[in-house]
Amino acid sequence: MLPFGIYFHWPFCRSKCPYCDFVSITAKNIDIRAWTDAYLSVLERYAARTADKAVSSVFFGGGTPSLMPAETVAGLLSAVRRLWKTDEDAEVSLEANPGTLNAEKMNAFRKAGVNRLSLGIQSLNDADLRFLGRLHDSETALNALQTARNVFPEVSADFIYALPHQTFKDWENELRRILDLKLDHLSLYQLTLEEGTFFYKKGIEPPEENLCADMFELTDRMTYAAGIPRYEVSNHARSGHECRHNLLYWQGGEWLGIGPAAHGRFFENGKYLATAGGKDPARWMKTRETAEEVLSTKEIAEELILTGLRTEKGVLRERFKEIVGADIEEFLYADTLEDYCSDGLMISDKKGLRATARGLLILNSLCSSLVK
Ligand SMILES: C[S@@+](CC[C@H](N)C(=O)[O-])C[C@H]1O[C@@H](n2cnc3c(N)ncnc32)[C@H](O)[C@@H]1O
Ligand code: SF4
Repeated sequence: MLPFGIYFHWPFCRSKCPYCDFVSITAKNIDIRAWTDAYLSVLERYAARTADKAVSSVFFGGGTPSLMPAETVAGLLSAVRRLWKTDEDAEVSLEANPGTLNAEKMNAFRKAGVNRLSLGIQSLNDADLRFLGRLHDSETALNALQTARNVFPEVSADFIYALPHQTFKDWENELRRILDLKLDHLSLYQLTLEEGTFFYKKGIEPPEENLCADMFELTDRMTYAAGIPRYEVSNHARSGHECRHNLLYWQGGEWLGIGPAAHGRFFENGKYLATAGGKDPARWMKTRETAEEVLSTKEIAEELILTGLRTEKGVLRERFKEIVGADIEEFLYADTLEDYCSDGLMISDKKGLRATARGLLILNSLCSSLVK
């Protein structure tokens, strides 16, 4: 049986960060009752179609879900438990921005059933936080982190590096401070400049490619030495602390996406469905519109290969066969794979197919000539 999770997208933030292209908006008056009803009705609609599955993870993402009232989170989680068989140790994550929740609110989320908090710290340098348009400073972030560690069994923090002005040494120093926090899970993203964002319009450019590659390799080395190695391109965990929900996206699983712009994947009557909530939050709340399509075998295979190769364990052969119904080799050019393996860019063994650290740096171009 494949792992099955539920993703809720809460699209509201206090302000819009200049680099962010997630579906997130600022709004003064949020009709909490109406939003809760919308989530609940979509949940119930899906439950009728997937009641035979057992929930192993729930993820509240955004946007800034730490702005959700804890009662709303509690209500949605109790609906999940009522509508599906739910693993006793199901992972329940919530994304939080420092400065949006105090100890009392963290305790209320914990009581509601949240057992993993993912804190968007982004930087330990106040000047970089200002550059990133964040509303918090590093002291607020570190205080929130300390409180979170007292409340939640699992705590993760997000950071962004490869900022336009950042030097190799800057990142090395900051990463050392981050590792000194001795967290069990870290998400370390290189800044991407997405079309449509304020940074993109301003013409902000990333550091040159070689510096980004060096920073990535440094991150790999330092996190490995600190016992918190990479298990996905941007995600690091001590053994046993990987985010189960995210692994379900990357290694093949089933999940429901609930909310504006939320994506889902699940089997129904032998077909693997891809769903996507409408992108406009106000419209989604009223219409709950969700596009749905059946993925072809080739589309499923391609997706599993592209996401699986981002992970340390790679594309798992057994899981691949369970979902696609065929061996992974059927979708790959054999000669190219052989070349990649002998060049030390990929490893293929009984368990699966994975990229080496060197391969990861050029993963997109590797995949474009590998996948049929
Ligand atoms: C869904 S976002 C939002 C979480 C939360 N609202 C916050 O900002 O702290 C999850 C993470 O993606 C990362 N992120 C968002 N936009 C990014 C970008 N353009 N480049 C790199 N990382 C980005 C940030 O680290 C962020 O914490
Ligand atoms: S980065 Fe986070 S806080 Fe900033 S706009 Fe995006 S979702 Fe909101």
